[in-house]
Amino acid sequence: MTVTLSTTRAAPGVKAGKVLGASATTWFVTAAIGQVLFALYVAMFYGGAALSGNFQKWNDVLVGGYVRGGTVGNLVLAIHLLLAFVITVGGPLQLVPALRARFLPFHRWNGRVYMVTAFVVSLAGIYAVWTRGTAGGLAMRAGISLNGLLIVIAAATAWRMVLARRIDAHRRWALRAFILVSGVWFFRVGLMFWILANQGPVGIGKDFDGPFVRFWAYGCYLVPLAVLELYLRAHSGGGKNGRLVMATGLFLLSAITAIGIAGAAMGLWLPRLT
Ligand code: HEM
Repeated sequence: MTVTLSTTRAAPGVKAGKVLGASATTWFVTAAIGQVLFALYVAMFYGGAALSGNFQKWNDVLVGGYVRGGTVGNLVLAIHLLLAFVITVGGPLQLVPALRARFLPFHRWNGRVYMVTAFVVSLAGIYAVWTRGTAGGLAMRAGISLNGLLIVIAAATAWRMVLARRIDAHRRWALRAFILVSGVWFFRVGLMFWILANQGPVGIGKDFDGPFVRFWAYGCYLVPLAVLELYLRAHSGGGKNGRLVMATGLFLLSAITAIGIAGAAMGLWLPRLT
């Protein structure tokens, strides 16, 4: 399977372009595995508790979670969590070229579901942040709210571009939407990589508002977004050296992502399922 994250194909026979493509595929496969694990955790922990009627269990994890009698807020939170599962599974599927090529109707329908889900999950999240709260201080609230707004903008633009039949621009904006939607996932994976790399919770703070958390509240989507822009440039216009440097960076980021996923699975997700 080859994942082409870019919108234009590298000239055939250009080795640097192939190496860059391989690095993008390596990162994507790694991330897709990590996102499936995240989705499984959401389904098993939140879905499992909801199915057994034990909504209180959500608060083992959530700070501003289930409130007895708080019907509207609980409903918004439940919708957010349900759609978090849908979007985490649907996102990677949109980027698999073989699915796009062989099952175009699926790509179209999954894309529509993805865009609508992106709006609803973000708006529900923004509502939850400012009515119920979340871990960390103001940086976390402001950071994730900006993330939500950017998701809405990117998803709307991707949609507008496909309606205008500007397929190249549509793909670029859809990739930006995917990276932005993955912000909460990057937050967890990056946080666990940081803790593992530092062999302890350096810069986390006892109220979860230390310098690293304040930086990563924005960095979790702005840094991956910057990497995507560099990749798009290297792929479409970067010379041989630019492509090789980018490929090396993506291989390195794949290793970092894999370590972060292992950390998040072992440290955050699995313990809540046992
Ligand atoms: C679009 C992709 C998103 C996904 C996949 C997602 C997923 C999740 C998940 C899985 C949780 C449960 C926390 C956990 O178990 O780790 C959660 C909680 C939450 N999310 Fe999101 N989320 C997304 C976007 C957002 C956005 C944009 C906002 C706000 C602007 C937001 C606000 C919240 C809030 C407030 C909670 C409850 C936190 C707490 O009570 O501690 N989410 N989200």
